[in-house]
Amino acid sequence: MTEIRVKITRPIDHLGIRSPEEVQRHFAEVQAWFDEECARAGDSASLEALRARWRGRKGLDSLLRQNWVSREWQFRPAAGKAYNALKSHVESALAARLGQIETGKEREPAAAGTLDLTLPGWAARPGARHLITQTLEEICDIFARIGFSVVEGPEVETEYYNFEALNIPEFHPARDTMDTFYLGLPVPGEPVQGEPADKRQALLLRTHTSPVQIRTMEKQKPPVRVVVPGKVYRRDNPDATHSFMFHQVEGLAVDRDITFCDFKGTMEYFVREFFGPETRTRFAASYFPFTEPSADLAATCSLCQGSGCRVCKFTGWIELFGAGMVDPAVYGFVGYDPQELSGFAFGLGVERFAMVKHGVDDLQLFFQNDVRFLRQFRR
Ligand code: FA5
Repeated sequence: MTEIRVKITRPIDHLGIRSPEEVQRHFAEVQAWFDEECARAGDSASLEALRARWRGRKGLDSLLRQNWVSREWQFRPAAGKAYNALKSHVESALAARLGQIETGKEREPAAAGTLDLTLPGWAARPGARHLITQTLEEICDIFARIGFSVVEGPEVETEYYNFEALNIPEFHPARDTMDTFYLGLPVPGEPVQGEPADKRQALLLRTHTSPVQIRTMEKQKPPVRVVVPGKVYRRDNPDATHSFMFHQVEGLAVDRDITFCDFKGTMEYFVREFFGPETRTRFAASYFPFTEPSADLAATCSLCQGSGCRVCKFTGWIELFGAGMVDPAVYGFVGYDPQELSGFAFGLGVERFAMVKHGVDDLQLFFQNDVRFLRQFRR
């Protein structure tokens, strides 16, 4: 603390400060010093002495103004702003401390005498689940109500499960949209423990939750009804709608006689449960190597009810996720009989769902851990 008092006696542009954040940090140190002194002032006389030390003709406030605020240098605006905040903090801290002393609320510290059990305690604010966790749970709960169970799979995958068994062979253009992070080990060609020889592959961070479709069908005989929540990774640059790590929920239903009507009805049910009963859905033809036919599903914007707004770019519709009937070629990879079975699959981006439902316009907010943002979604 004495160190900061020495610093105040020096011109701020001589302190080696290289950014506005460092300016802020220096002012924060002054504030911390002041708060400590203020808390230590046990009666009105010592508080008055502190006030004089701060505000007096040669007090710290005038030193601060002279050395840190009035200097012509590149971060002068940041220094001015930080000084104003500090000044009003000091005024209110002095007034509050005086109030405490005068009303006699402040008791002797416990170490010096008795422990006063009548003093109000420190309330520990309970935490809450992150909005993405809440959204994942909400999606899984909706599907649980119609007979889907929740399964999980590894985030570190082989090329076989992430691409090949999903009908995306090497050099298929669909791999371009899902570039990912490869792990240095194991070297291709060396056996992966427990993995059949024909599945020896480089390891990568999965780009979607779809590999768990294959893992589930390998383990389980039909009928299959599962949803798969989890993290996925892509070599995408971060922006308002993209992140290199995000969350998906995959869905897969395979049985005898599952039709496109079952698929459409299930999707519509889910979207209405999640966004509200007024929501309408729209299917547009799309392409995924592991579904045929494939569809992109859009819903009427839940913010403007389809009349057009900034969030839906004035179209009234929001593209939600990709889906389709499972391509029979996929059954070939898991030993299912494509003559006997049919099914549907879908995969949705959880951040996207949370953004649309809660009117969040920047996906990066989910990962910045700013409690002012997160507290808005306490449940
Ligand atoms: C897939 O990942 C397919 N596996 C989905 C699928 C599953 C289709 C089953 C058919 C059957 P796509 O690449 O479109 O599809 O990603 C799905 C969703 O993930 C997108 O709609 C989007 O909401 C979200 N998404 C994609 N890339 C990013 C990213 N970089 N950051 C955040 N969300 C993303």
